[in-house]
Amino acid sequence: MNNLASNLSEISKLKSGVERLTLTDYRNYSSLRLEAQNTPIVIYGENGSGKTNILEAISFLSPGRGLRGVKLADIKRFIPQIGNNGNLSFVTPLNWAVVADVLNNDESHTLATAVEKTNKEVEDAEGNRSFERRIVKIDGNKISTQSELGKYISLIWLTPQMDRLFRGGSQPRRSFLDRMVYAFDNDHAKRVADFEHLYREWYRLIKDGKRDNYWLESLEENMAALGVAIAAARREQVARLNSFIEQEPDDVFPSVQIELDGRIERELDENPAVRVEELYRNLLKTQRHYVLDNGSADGVNRTDFKVYHKKKCMPAELCSTGEQKSLLVSIILAQAKCQTLHKGFAPVLLLDEVAAHLDDTKRSALLGKIVDLKFQAWITTTNPELFDEIKQKAQFFEVKHNSVYDNTREIRPEDSRQTAF
Ligand SMILES: Nc1ncnc2c1ncn2[C@@H]1O[C@H](COP(=O)(O)OP(=O)(O)OP(=O)(O)O)[C@@H](O)[C@H]1O
Ligand SMILES: [Mg+2]
Repeated sequence: MNNLASNLSEISKLKSGVERLTLTDYRNYSSLRLEAQNTPIVIYGENGSGKTNILEAISFLSPGRGLRGVKLADIKRFIPQIGNNGNLSFVTPLNWAVVADVLNNDESHTLATAVEKTNKEVEDAEGNRSFERRIVKIDGNKISTQSELGKYISLIWLTPQMDRLFRGGSQPRRSFLDRMVYAFDNDHAKRVADFEHLYREWYRLIKDGKRDNYWLESLEENMAALGVAIAAARREQVARLNSFIEQEPDDVFPSVQIELDGRIERELDENPAVRVEELYRNLLKTQRHYVLDNGSADGVNRTDFKVYHKKKCMPAELCSTGEQKSLLVSIILAQAKCQTLHKGFAPVLLLDEVAAHLDDTKRSALLGKIVDLKFQAWITTTNPELFDEIKQKAQFFEVKHNSVYDNTREIRPEDSRQTAF
């Protein structure tokens, strides 16, 4: 066993993951309670039964808007009603909540998140305005920054929407990159949210034609300082992942090379941070009017990255659908191992329809790796037979009629025989 493997196996002797999950008025669930093991958890059921909703609920145990990136208002349970006149309307409960007992290296904590009504309109990190905000409690205490959650649980997700990650616009790639940074730097989430908030304020000021120079300059100064910190953290993360993949290439999933593509990140290649901050301030100043025509100013809000399939020397966007999925798996496996070593506890994987596009060898290899690494992985599928090979090692939940049934015993006949005797 090499050093890396023995360090990972030391950490994985202690359990980290969700032990109990309770949802209240969360999308299609009026109330749901699951007891989970520290194994792969296969969630199966028909289309529209509520599999992804469970993964999304767990993803709210990390900062931000969850794995679908939605507005808080979309999550509360919509109950359709047909009136006497035949018209369709919806009733919605006032609140939704996700409560989870999580283990962090065998230590139990309760994480809870819900929405709270506010007296005045608030703006979330993405600029959506509403009279609601998400609150987070850890062991019963309300906390002011969501990034605190990162000390107790670390989540890595892969969704079908990400199948287009390498081909579409840069925003989802940037969020993917920033989520990888959060795991190493809890403050990164807050920095990105603060930068976006300042950027919107700056943009609005310019758009409204308010030539308040003093105010614009003060915003630019803060944006430049935050922007340089964001760019530096992204550079560090990409370098860390590239060197990890170089040293520990996977035996099945293709090695990747990640290249950051951002103006501020590039400036940091050649200049000290203070100088880049100054350059960034000037850049924002000269772009004040230009943003009106162009929609956005250059800077960390435009950063992108490119992924290469190393062996094929091919940019990811030119790889096949299955190859692109394998590249993504390769990145998240490297990220998962790397952050386990860094944080000292294992992440939880949320793998929505992960079997799609992977051939039998790759699917089987991925499951084998998850079992070996002892990560808790929540995996959704419409076809549980694809997971037959781990049926002795996984927990199986069937989702139907807005409820979830633990069918692990039925699926593991050997287990039922043991309990029968
Ligand atoms: N706010 C809401 N209130 C009530 N129901 C909702 C709400 N949002 C989504 N739903 C419903 O939840 C159901 C389950 O959605 P989900 O995406 O979890 O399904 P799924 O099992 O992952 O399906 P698929 O196999 O197609 O991916 C859908 O029928 C959807 O209409
Ligand atoms: Mg789904």
